[in-house]
Amino acid sequence: MTAPSDTGQASRTLRPRRSCMAVPGSNPRFLEKAQGLPADQVFLDLEDACAPLAKPDARHTIVKFLNEGDWTGKTRVVRVNDWTTHWTYRDVITVVEGAGQNLDCIMLPKVQDAQQVQALDMLLTQIETTMGFEVGRIGIEAQIENAKGLVNVDEIAASSPRMETIVFGPADFMASINMKSLVVGEQPPGYPSDAYHYILMRILMAARMHDLQAIDGPYLQIKDVDGFREVAQRAAALGYDGKWVLHPGQVEAANEIFSPSQDDYDHAEMILDAYEYFTSEKGGKKGSAMLGDEMIDEASRKMALVIAGKGRAAGM
Ligand code: GLV
Ligand code: MG
Repeated sequence: MTAPSDTGQASRTLRPRRSCMAVPGSNPRFLEKAQGLPADQVFLDLEDACAPLAKPDARHTIVKFLNEGDWTGKTRVVRVNDWTTHWTYRDVITVVEGAGQNLDCIMLPKVQDAQQVQALDMLLTQIETTMGFEVGRIGIEAQIENAKGLVNVDEIAASSPRMETIVFGPADFMASINMKSLVVGEQPPGYPSDAYHYILMRILMAARMHDLQAIDGPYLQIKDVDGFREVAQRAAALGYDGKWVLHPGQVEAANEIFSPSQDDYDHAEMILDAYEYFTSEKGGKKGSAMLGDEMIDEASRKMALVIAGKGRAAGM
């Protein structure tokens, strides 16, 4: 699947990411179980789901599971620690040297500016060159988790040709801006509207400007699937490509919510067929035409292309 973009700008292949499953890199049982779940992406975590004392062993556990596990059909990502810690370089070197050919992306958390992505890009290039891997194949996912990252999100999106997605990290973000709430994903009490609208839209604009995917972060009330659906639906409605899932119960919901409904998909394909006909010689070379009660034109084609693209990627 390629970006539904008319900018003509070359972009990396966009991988399906409706459901992005978080799996602690220090937990072999979860690493085993995740392989059997229908998530589009898994990310094996060396950051916050992995205790500091467990990180050194977890790096090797991740290498083993990437090399020996069956991740068929899934985008394989490792989340390393952010550059303000002393763990990042060792995370990247151990994981990419050990399993670089069985890994699609590195996720970098708490990204604050373009240089942080570029530092990771350079390190990846050195490792790929040294190991004889294809240079530039491994992509980067950047998490936006604080005010500085959000203010600099445009330069972060443009920072490297390895960039594939921008990911909203609500838990760290809420903490970093002193939001008065303890429930990640829920609206903070006392605010009558959607407290996340600006943040989500800001990230989405930067992502779309650079043909990247926009991914919504976790919903921590993992047993509340209705609550998850509501939050996921908000992000999907805006145009987000997917959301993190922390529990098997959230996977099917995310796959459904970030795919178009069958009716919308069929309608989108009908618009594309109709457009192709009425703009053709045979159809009268028209710029717009009626499809039932609806007038459609070039802009309708673009909207239909987005829905049809998501549906085709989901195998509809
Ligand atoms: C994810 O990393 C978050 O902070 O929400
Ligand atoms: Mg975080």
